[in-house]
Amino acid sequence: MLEVLILILGILIASVIVSSYFMLFIYPLVGGAPYVPTDTVKVDNMLELSDLGPGKIAVDLGSGDGRIVIAAAKTGAEAHGYEISPLLVLLSRATIKRLQLNNAVIHSGSFWDADLSKYDVIFMYQLPYVMQRLEQKFVDNLKPGAVIISNAFSIKNWKPFKTSGTVFAYRVSDNWPK
Ligand SMILES: C[S@@+](CC[C@H](N)C(=O)[O-])C[C@H]1O[C@@H](n2cnc3c(N)ncnc32)[C@H](O)[C@@H]1O
Repeated sequence: MLEVLILILGILIASVIVSSYFMLFIYPLVGGAPYVPTDTVKVDNMLELSDLGPGKIAVDLGSGDGRIVIAAAKTGAEAHGYEISPLLVLLSRATIKRLQLNNAVIHSGSFWDADLSKYDVIFMYQLPYVMQRLEQKFVDNLKPGAVIISNAFSIKNWKPFKTSGTVFAYRVSDNWPK
């Protein structure tokens, strides 16, 4: 009897580990980067380059545990995140609720389906092949003057107006196709 219970418990624990791994690292790869959080020093760099504040609206494309959305909301801006992993959506929403941030929202779903036209600032930490696809969405869908802050990877062929280590700041209108 005890062996059966241990076996069932083992199967349950293994399923939770496998499905969490799948949701965090495999599932996102279909449309973007797997979950790797930005370290806190870089979050500060990204916020500084963005010049965010009250009256502005920002979005993190692939918001992970919500750390960038939360930091953006703390500047007084309206902050949104799109996240494809249900586990990370739950986690980030719980943190936002605990911090009572009424100006932070996590959208559950893919950023490929998002209308980005209202955002002043777009944060991202994505892989180069995803960013190459995003270039066209940015040109088609962002308003003139919108600022993109990219962590770790630069946008191929675009000219940043500012950099800080491996954080790159772009303005869409400066990189409009000629
Ligand atoms: C490298 S992590 C960055 C997380 C967070 N932005 C940060 O800097 O800490 C990339 C995130 O994008 C999410 N992701 C990947 N593809 C996505 C998609 N198509 N739509 C929404 N989120 C996506 C992943 O689940 C992951 O949380």
